[in-house]
Amino acid sequence: MSNSFLHIYVCLLILITGCSGTRIHQYDAIYSGTPWLDNNGNTVSARGACIVKEGNRYYLFGELKSDEGNDFVGFSCYSSKDLYNWKFEKIALPQQKNGKLGPGRVGERPKVMKCPKTGEFIMYMHVDSTNYKDQYVGYAVSNTIDGEYTFKGALLFEGKPIKKWDLSTYQDTDGSGYVLTHSGNVYKLSDDYKSATKHLLDEPDTMHGEAPAIIKKNGVYFWLTSGLTSWERNDNFYYTATSLAGPWKDQGYFAPEGTLTHNSQTTFVLPIYGSNDTTYLFMGDRWSYPIQHSAATYVWQPLEVNSATLHLPYYEKWNVDLKTGKWANTEITGKTVLANDATIKYSGNWKQETENNINVFRSNTKGDSFSLNFTGSRVVLYGVSQSDGGYAIVTVKDAEGNVVANSTIEMYSKVTNHSPKYVSPMFKKGIYTLELTVLGKHGNWTNKRKDTFGSTDNYISLEKIIVTE
Ligand code: GLA
Repeated sequence: MSNSFLHIYVCLLILITGCSGTRIHQYDAIYSGTPWLDNNGNTVSARGACIVKEGNRYYLFGELKSDEGNDFVGFSCYSSKDLYNWKFEKIALPQQKNGKLGPGRVGERPKVMKCPKTGEFIMYMHVDSTNYKDQYVGYAVSNTIDGEYTFKGALLFEGKPIKKWDLSTYQDTDGSGYVLTHSGNVYKLSDDYKSATKHLLDEPDTMHGEAPAIIKKNGVYFWLTSGLTSWERNDNFYYTATSLAGPWKDQGYFAPEGTLTHNSQTTFVLPIYGSNDTTYLFMGDRWSYPIQHSAATYVWQPLEVNSATLHLPYYEKWNVDLKTGKWANTEITGKTVLANDATIKYSGNWKQETENNINVFRSNTKGDSFSLNFTGSRVVLYGVSQSDGGYAIVTVKDAEGNVVANSTIEMYSKVTNHSPKYVSPMFKKGIYTLELTVLGKHGNWTNKRKDTFGSTDNYISLEKIIVTE
């Protein structure tokens, strides 16, 4: 972690945990596209993530991003009993002093598996230079799931590094471990999971895509993957097969076409096996370069897996019963305050406009703000993402003016999207103030080929606010 980044992280921690007795860490469901706060009140930063269940806890590993660029600062580890509330465990693999995961390098998409033979936990990752020209599959090892992992360098196949980028892992029902990469590659792992013994599938001509993930149901393997548009979202698609070695059949998109996979890129699918049912938790990233630490979000949805097809729905709020394995769509309920309600106090150049017959208030001016005093236990802010969307800071203060929650949000999307952009944690019922300030900045970046992506302006659009009693 860079010094300045560590400084911001610690200051935020003190600011939030030190200011009031209000409980900050409480979510009652899975929400997509909104920042999540951990037990310390900091943003859950685990991009390109995976989840491993060990004992009765779920462990989330991902890229701990910074808001200042793309250099590797570490892989984070969080744990949870309910998949809604996340406790920061540690930086599972910190930036190394030097070498391939040292300063000025890239580390992405960590995936962890427990090796059945040795009982060790092995983490695989994409290691690269910042211009993405020195890629290989690396690995790290720990005796405990939440330990600090020791970086071992390249995973070898026939004595040589595997020079691929976007990767994932798959553990089959017989305990065999596999590493899969972009463009249809599958490598079988040795019994100790520390080398690759076979290049099982090599299909760069017939299979394409990044961000791979595999699940299996009733003998059918499903391979989810994204198009190659860097951090820009695209309509992700999938293949099916009855053997990991193929042949893999192209099955098209798994989310409704044009939604750009509900504005996300696949990273992992976690099957949650219960007494009656299995929920397939689709985990996607809504990247937000350059504010990837604070403003990127998660799109987690219950993937419907049929005999040979997939369907990814979108729910603003949903729950999963970890005992039965059943999921249910739930409503965000409360008192609705529309954007033109007189109780919202606007300051600056906000303009009332209509989007899809809905009144919204829009501003792109740095420092413009609005606030709402409310009595309740939670506040949800709905905004409209558009191709000209930018960043804003959202703060909730208690009656004494203490900051009890603080997040950066983004409203950029290539396709217009009305949805919650901020869901506060549950507070003790009381009097609070919600404040939003336009940052006057937007996300944009170039990919490896120097194509440009991202927003064209700094707009924030408010549609409504829902206050829960
Ligand atoms: C794609 C990959 C990510 C990352 C970005 C960088 O989105 O899936 O893991 O490498 O490109 O542009």
